[in-house]
Amino acid sequence: MSSNNKIYRSIVSGVGASLPKEIVTNKDLSMRMDTSEEWIEERTGIKERRIASEGETTSSLGTEAAQIAINNSGLKNSDIDLIVLATATPDNTFPASATLIQSSLGIEKGYAYDMQAVCSGFVFAVEAADNAIKAGNIKNALVIGSETFSRILDWDDRSTCVLFGDGAGAMVLSASSDDTNRGVLSNHLHSDGRYKDLLYVDGGPSISNQVGFLRMDGKGVFKHAVHNLSSAIIEAIDYNDLTIDDIDWFVPHQANIRILEAVSKKVGLSKDKVIITLDKHANTSAASIPLALYEAIENDKIKKGDLVLLEAMGGGFSWGSTLIRW
Ligand code: COA
Repeated sequence: MSSNNKIYRSIVSGVGASLPKEIVTNKDLSMRMDTSEEWIEERTGIKERRIASEGETTSSLGTEAAQIAINNSGLKNSDIDLIVLATATPDNTFPASATLIQSSLGIEKGYAYDMQAVCSGFVFAVEAADNAIKAGNIKNALVIGSETFSRILDWDDRSTCVLFGDGAGAMVLSASSDDTNRGVLSNHLHSDGRYKDLLYVDGGPSISNQVGFLRMDGKGVFKHAVHNLSSAIIEAIDYNDLTIDDIDWFVPHQANIRILEAVSKKVGLSKDKVIITLDKHANTSAASIPLALYEAIENDKIKKGDLVLLEAMGGGFSWGSTLIRW
């Protein structure tokens, strides 16, 4: 593809999602631990979450979401030549769960790898796939966010275990050289490792023989999230010479309704333009943005030609945005 000197852009050609079957409500949790429906909903906006059962894994959920995205794109599985899976909860330390998904989809060519940027993983993965398309290296990329955070939660720590859920979402990006202005318009990514102690997992293959559990300083994360997400929005609109009112839809990482309200207030963003699914899914880390995108498309919100801003922030810290003309 690169030999004919065409300029390629990455168009979204399909989106899919998959959720575990089991729904766990705040009431369910209040019967298992010292918490209440009101505490969880008031502090976070979360009402329920899906929890993976035995046999439901990051790769199985990712495969289901990916197959729906490919079907919606009108492509065949064999048309996919890159799979980037954003996840912090792979099935195994290796091989990359992306290769498990590749194999489950019956794809035998191209390449597949995992992207680890925790809750920001989906925007990092979109950037990587977009760059491969723009470079003319590939034609169709599958970008997946899939997580089973329930498996790294300390279910005795009520301050963290009520906040997360499991799920997967996927998007097919396809190379286009037509003269419309559709496609990925910009990606802006950031990391700052000084804050690793505010949100981390206390295990892993190189430091222990345990997978470990998620640990978090909730207030510390909250403060940085509002600052970093607000600056990511401003960065994207400034770079594209837009104003906040030009954006049709904001599809943020779904962590906490109070973070999203604080960010909206800070940047002057109308609440009606923010896609919210955290009430039903809780925080699904790298899966939250494509899950929200899928729901917005299914509900006829996002339409061809709309300007859609994706933004996320997570452990590391890492944060960033992707602006797409749908
Ligand atoms: N149920 C009931 N009480 C709980 C509770 C629960 N599940 N979890 C914590 N509490 C208690 C605390 O023990 C504390 O009690 P105390 O005052 O007697 O010590 C009290 O609630 C207040 O806790 P605090 O930490 O001050 O609450 P908060 O208003 O900061 O809300 C979070 C906590 C976690 C909801 C909030 O800080 C947050 O959302 N942070 C961002 C987290 C995030 O988004 N992380 C992912 C980023 S990708």
